Amino acid sequence: MYKHMKMTVLLVFGLFVVIVTAHNITYLEVPQYGDPRRDADLICHYVNEKGDPPLHSVKWYRDNNEIFRFTPEQQPPTRTFNTTAGGVSRGFCNMHSCSISVVLPKKYNTRISFTCEVSTEGPRFAVVNQTKYLTVAVTLKEDPVITGASGSVQQGEDVLLNCSTKPAMPPANIVWFIDGRPEKHEPWINDNTEESSADEFGLRSSWRALRVRATTIKGYITVRCEATQPTRPPYTRSSNATLNIARSPHLSMYTASGSSVTQAIGVATVCLSLHIFSKFSALCKV
Ligand SMILES: *[C@@H]1O[C@H](CO)[C@@H](O)[C@H](O)[C@H]1NC(C)=O
Ligand SMILES: *[C@@H]1O[C@H](CO)[C@@H](O)[C@H](O)[C@H]1NC(C)=O
Ligand SMILES: *[C@@H]1O[C@H](CO)[C@@H](O)[C@H](O)[C@H]1NC(C)=O
Ligand SMILES: *[C@@H]1O[C@H](CO)[C@@H](O)[C@H](O)[C@H]1NC(C)=O
Ligand SMILES: *[C@@H]1O[C@H](CO)[C@@H](O)[C@H](O)[C@H]1NC(C)=O
Repeated sequence: MYKHMKMTVLLVFGLFVVIVTAHNITYLEVPQYGDPRRDADLICHYVNEKGDPPLHSVKWYRDNNEIFRFTPEQQPPTRTFNTTAGGVSRGFCNMHSCSISVVLPKKYNTRISFTCEVSTEGPRFAVVNQTKYLTVAVTLKEDPVITGASGSVQQGEDVLLNCSTKPAMPPANIVWFIDGRPEKHEPWINDNTEESSADEFGLRSSWRALRVRATTIKGYITVRCEATQPTRPPYTRSSNATLNIARSPHLSMYTASGSSVTQAIGVATVCLSLHIFSKFSALCKV
């Protein structure tokens, strides 16, 4: 009976030892998108508890093929594998982290898994791993630019706006929103985002025009341009602009019903709106 209890205690203690004697991956740094024009830097951070057996090895896998190994007890401590199929250009590892630089394929939208696996020395070789994905893409570094919305327009006027992106790959698709609602377009009008030809790196910029008629009584229209790259996951950047609609001087005089406040606001709006057209600035003095 006594002997049996002692065995149980040992067993529990043994289990406890197995649980704590492992390194733990605290953080795996793999960028979500990787520009194939440069190497991607990956870092695996790990810790072990005080008194745990030492680190045995750190291995990096790319889509389940081992590409790099760090074994501090061996000479040389680092080895790279499969360097021909887009391998590891640099590696630097210690007892807390292991960073490598990997060459990416020039194939856009390829999704690559990177796994870091850390094993602890005996008596039981405890192994932990973590995986993250990288998508080969040149993402937009800036928001799209809306042109044609500066200044103000007259009530009823047609305005041509343009939204364009910097070169990226895969190229972005552009969607317009007018006062928060997606742009309505006639089904027979070719409605695709336009793309530039490829630049020296194979990147393409996108643009899309929008014609809006300034018919609103609230004095302005807000537009929003969303540029989304069809990557996994999609990458979106957007810009907003406000289109100020001037009330024509004639109309504001007409509609101002004798109240000096309304009249003052009406004139102020006109002056502000016309301010940009310097040739009309004399009107503000009226
Ligand atoms: C490993 O680290 C994570 C994050 O710090 C923590 O949540 C987890 O409990 C740890 N696992 C072990 C077995 O220590
Ligand atoms: C090298 O990579 C290729 C695929 O890229 C794979 O088929 C092969 O098994 C890998 N070799 C090793 C030793 O991991
Ligand atoms: C990571 O660990 C899991 C079990 O936890 C295992 O199924 C998987 O094969 C490991 N992945 C690699 C690349 O070693
Ligand atoms: C929109 O801007 C792009 C990029 O600047 C330009 O190539 C295109 O011609 C413009 N489209 C219109 C309709 O102005
Ligand atoms: C742009 O407008 C949207 C709503 O249409 C809003 O959610 C967003 O915060 C605005 N962004 C900026 C930078 O003002």
